[in-house]
Amino acid sequence: MVLKMVDAMNPETVKLKDGREVLIRNAQPGDGRLVHEYLRVLGASTPYILTFPGDIGTPEHYESRVSKVDEDMFYSMSAIDLDTGRIVGNTSFSFAQRVKLSHAAGLGTGVLPDWQGIGLGSWMLKRAIGDMRTNPKIHRLELTVMDGNDHAQGMYERAGFVVEGRKLKSIRQPDGSFRDEILMGMWIGD
Ligand SMILES: CC(C)(COP(=O)(O)OP(=O)(O)OC[C@H]1O[C@@H](n2cnc3c(N)ncnc32)[C@H](O)[C@@H]1OP(=O)(O)O)[C@@H](O)C(=O)NCCC(=O)NCCS
Repeated sequence: MVLKMVDAMNPETVKLKDGREVLIRNAQPGDGRLVHEYLRVLGASTPYILTFPGDIGTPEHYESRVSKVDEDMFYSMSAIDLDTGRIVGNTSFSFAQRVKLSHAAGLGTGVLPDWQGIGLGSWMLKRAIGDMRTNPKIHRLELTVMDGNDHAQGMYERAGFVVEGRKLKSIRQPDGSFRDEILMGMWIGD
């Protein structure tokens, strides 16, 4: 699937299962507006992410998060549509700041609806896990997925995550219904 492989920290172009191409690159200054738009569209498209349209921050808020990448507090990799320049997928890891938790990184990921089901989510996940394996501070990866998000849970299991537990009715959807969160983790340390 990879058309052109540069080195791990450089952008690369990936050809997806339907023939479209995306540019994969790490977050960079100036991305705040693009991240804001990506989250706005993703948040309105699915009940399975925590970000509700009303929770979306400003482009400036996301710009300030991008700046944390340089401070080694946050990893963020985006897939860019080469035709429009829009972010169509993102995979991030947040690094815990407290000393006793600083070996763990928390995953967040999403792909915009028009780009789902053609391998982008799996590709980004594999690449991001590979990048975490080269980070000497990180030994554990973790995430939560909403009960019923079977595509996502299957993707995580195929990547090596295992179910570690469940938070009962920890999510309340806007319609008032409750949903469990499934806790998943993966040990990548020695
Ligand atoms: C979950 C998500 C990140 C997966 O990304 P993706 O690019 O669609 O994933 P892939 O194309 O790599 O496919 C992953 C698996 O899900 C399946 N899948 C994904 N979208 C699908 C769809 N719309 N219909 C049917 N199957 C789908 C694929 O068939 C694949 O399974 P396989 O490996 O057995 O073939 C993406 O669908 C998404 O952003 N969903 C909404 C937000 C979300 O749920 N984020 C995760 C929160 S924990």
